[in-house]
Amino acid sequence: MTDRSWANLERGCRERLAASAAASGLDASGATSGLAEFSSRLDLEFRRLAESLWELYRDRPDFAFQLQALIEETFAGFQARSEPLRRRDRESPPESGWFLSGTQVGAVAYVDLFAGTFNGLVQRIPYLKELGVSWLHLMPFFLAPEKESDGGYAVSSYRRTNPALGSMDDLERLAGILADEGIALVADFVFNHTSDEHAWAMQAKAGDPAHQDFYRVFADHADTAAYQASLRDIFPEARSGSFTWSPEMNKWVWTTFHSFQWDLNYANPAVFRAMAAEMVALANRGVSVLRLDAVAFIWKKIGTGCENLPQAHTIIQAFQSIARLACPSLLFKSEAIVHPDRIAEYIDLRECQVSYNPLLMAELWEASATKDARLLSLSMRKRHRLPTGCAWINYVRCHDDIGWTFADEDAAELGIKGGDHRSFLNDFFLGTFPGSFSRGVSFQFNPVDGDRRICGTAASLAGVERAVADGPGEDLDTAIRRVLLLYGIAYSAGGIPLLYLGDELGALNDYGYEDDPARAADSRWVHRLGWNDELVAGRNAASSITGRVYAGFCALARHRKAHAVFGAQAVTVVDTGCRAILAFRKQAAGELLAVVGNFSDRPVELDATTAYQVLAGRQGSDLLSGRLVLPGEPLELEPCELLWILSSTQ
Ligand code: GLC
Ligand code: GLC
Repeated sequence: MTDRSWANLERGCRERLAASAAASGLDASGATSGLAEFSSRLDLEFRRLAESLWELYRDRPDFAFQLQALIEETFAGFQARSEPLRRRDRESPPESGWFLSGTQVGAVAYVDLFAGTFNGLVQRIPYLKELGVSWLHLMPFFLAPEKESDGGYAVSSYRRTNPALGSMDDLERLAGILADEGIALVADFVFNHTSDEHAWAMQAKAGDPAHQDFYRVFADHADTAAYQASLRDIFPEARSGSFTWSPEMNKWVWTTFHSFQWDLNYANPAVFRAMAAEMVALANRGVSVLRLDAVAFIWKKIGTGCENLPQAHTIIQAFQSIARLACPSLLFKSEAIVHPDRIAEYIDLRECQVSYNPLLMAELWEASATKDARLLSLSMRKRHRLPTGCAWINYVRCHDDIGWTFADEDAAELGIKGGDHRSFLNDFFLGTFPGSFSRGVSFQFNPVDGDRRICGTAASLAGVERAVADGPGEDLDTAIRRVLLLYGIAYSAGGIPLLYLGDELGALNDYGYEDDPARAADSRWVHRLGWNDELVAGRNAASSITGRVYAGFCALARHRKAHAVFGAQAVTVVDTGCRAILAFRKQAAGELLAVVGNFSDRPVELDATTAYQVLAGRQGSDLLSGRLVLPGEPLELEPCELLWILSSTQ
């Protein structure tokens, strides 16, 4: 398209916008309607949005109409935005970098399991504040099928909540209270699929062709087979293949995940428009951050694995443009559990400003099993840096399984064979490998390629469950330190740490899900824990396991918040020559932080020369133990000990 064609297109959009604002009886100056403000945002955003959509929909004869309608609908979303949220938009756009500060601590919970309801969650705020939480991800709370909903990831309406939790108005009220307490609310934008009970799916089932076109439906099995040949199964224990027969439609429908999760058809611009409106409506309830679920899968192309295609990025960038127009303080967090090269491609100020860091997560566990931090060090050196203004979400485990998503080529640099290593890690975390400290549970074993993933709470995977069974002793001390070692690295590597609530109390696996028919087939429920009065009541008992773990978590948050250096995103990895040790430094605001972790279950001593190097020749003090560390002396670490050595650079 020429510049002139773009200008014509833009003029058409603006004329239609003005006409519809006038028709709705608003003042011609645009002052009350906000048209003037929206128009100035459009000055910056129009070309970007239009070009993204052109990439996707250039073949559509109604392209101009679709774009006009989208902009008009986005304007309606902008008009519905409340004054406090507009203030947030002015004060905290993504470029302000508010989320990069070391004061951020993230946490994640299911509303029902953690607090019963949205209103009940208000009572939990003091608890969250003890842990320094400033970023709260509430697992999907939307209306969902009663029987099976993939933990809420099968959404039946983006505008309604699961009634057991309260209403959307309750959620909005909660968001406001959280904001007043300095806690940003994070919610899922499950935009790859809806449940088969969503109104769009119901209309599709009833035979409406316009709504059948909201999904990827196929009359002919041969057409599905052509795609299927290059797809992987995400939940191989539940089913094989990515297509589900719908007897109502007499057609096949694309279902990447479960058969009741229907993949949306983004090749249809009406789907993009409809989801853009849902996104803005959710943001208007006070959500600060959207977790973009399953980003890798949103575009399909025959002959490919239908993951991470270029158009997936274009779609997210187009959603980003919509956010900039209607609710510009909204952040996007990417959930891509894929090869590290692909993960990085989603992270950009104009795409997803923050991203889960599944590589750090997987390699923290990998280093724990092997007692060798070389792969972790290598990845941190090679892959930790992000575009300026963007941040990692560093976590140790989440509501999903742990998959071994390291790059085979990174492993090969260390002489490690990726495939063999993954089998070893699975055996280790299942606890079947001799000498393993772990008690994990298998998830989605695929007999075709032998692949599987691992579930479990941090404490159970780190050895606490096994050590408790064996009785008090050194292994238990080491296991407790291991939990804090892993989380302590997540709390100090650049980015936002994310605590999976329950882990701060050293909670163990809950095998009760096996007796619940709706959950028994999904072992991720083993680590989706509820609020536990007994553990919470015991959190300040200094000598108990719970008390020791809890005190550790509070200390991590306290130190993090007290020192600006934790906000530094860039890290310098130091090679200590000792396999069991991960060491990195970061620097900011006149402070230098050396993070040193021992992954061995034996004590390790770094000689004076190495210690000097780690500390960059400075004297410091370990925030976690309070001990003084001198550059000319050897440095000793207990089994699984973590040091946060702070020095002044002034
Ligand atoms: C995401 C969620 C996962 C869910 C899947 C399908 O990856 O984290 O729990 O099963 O998407 O929505
Ligand atoms: C796969 C997918 C990821 C999803 C997970 C659910 O790893 O890549 O998106 O969350 O399965 O278990």
